[in-house]
Amino acid sequence: MELKKVELHLHLEGAAPPAFIRQLAHEKRMDISGIFDENGNYAYRDFWHFLQVYEAATSTLTRPEDYARLTRAVLSEAAEAGVIYAETFLSPDFCGGRDVSAWREYLQAMQEAAMEAERDFGITLRGIVTAIRHFGPEKARETALCAAETAGDWITGFGLAGDEQSGQPVDFKWSFDCAREAGLRLTAHAGEWGGPESVRAAWRDLGVERIGHGVRAIEDLRLVDELAEAGVVLEVCPGSNVALGLYPSWAQHPIARLRDRGVKVTVSTDDPPFFHTTMVREYEMLNRSFGWETEELNQLARTAAEAAFCDAATKDKILKKLENKDV
Ligand code: ADE
Ligand code: ZN
Repeated sequence: MELKKVELHLHLEGAAPPAFIRQLAHEKRMDISGIFDENGNYAYRDFWHFLQVYEAATSTLTRPEDYARLTRAVLSEAAEAGVIYAETFLSPDFCGGRDVSAWREYLQAMQEAAMEAERDFGITLRGIVTAIRHFGPEKARETALCAAETAGDWITGFGLAGDEQSGQPVDFKWSFDCAREAGLRLTAHAGEWGGPESVRAAWRDLGVERIGHGVRAIEDLRLVDELAEAGVVLEVCPGSNVALGLYPSWAQHPIARLRDRGVKVTVSTDDPPFFHTTMVREYEMLNRSFGWETEELNQLARTAAEAAFCDAATKDKILKKLENKDV
């Protein structure tokens, strides 16, 4: 039986199966054939090209109902892999161009689809409004305002994704302060395409409690110890890191070293079809590469549930579900 899992780092558009995007493109008579390889998978050369392919795929999602269909498809696959609770990054940039009333319509469509998926597949979803770093700090402010307007039981967090080599975390301080004041919990991608100084800057300047990836903290053991001491949670996505060439193999991925040094690590898929992964594959590879068995794998899920941005009652429910371990 599949172990129960909790996934904190999942981009909704990045989780769109290529066939789903091809179907939407077909319905809308859009030609995006250049983003697929001969087997119909997403094709990209490196991380920066990946971001372009991601945005081209996302350009087919033009209406709230497209996002509703996507939400249902993604949650069905995640539930199939044993995920009982997920948080997904959502970007008003792609959902109505950061216009608050359009964003509300997209959000309602996604929330309704998520409620249906909870009923049908037993998976709970919450949303993290996410600014895109390479779109710049001005657009991030508009995104933060969308987040603040819709903060509540379902939109529970604010984050930052995109090209880590574009600008500095401090450029986004206003947006993170705005989100924090609206009661949102905070996370930012760092320590993926930037080194330990990038992790330190996101942590210090944005006041985040979780870091997306964060794995390159391993290059500065003092920082690793500080993260461990402060209980900062890393949303680690090893399959994504290996697929994008950040590490040459699973065996060289630092997740086990970070964990052994006391850092709170969780595991997610990031953009599963882009990286040919699922939560089942992530668990299998952790077992094969580091010998992690049921005990270690279940600890990942408990750490993730404890670090979830949902309200206390929802968290309690998730932790209870994890206690009887099999789906
Ligand atoms: N957006 C989607 N996937 C991402 C990643 N791995 N890093 C930064 N931004 C992203
Ligand atoms: Zn990510």
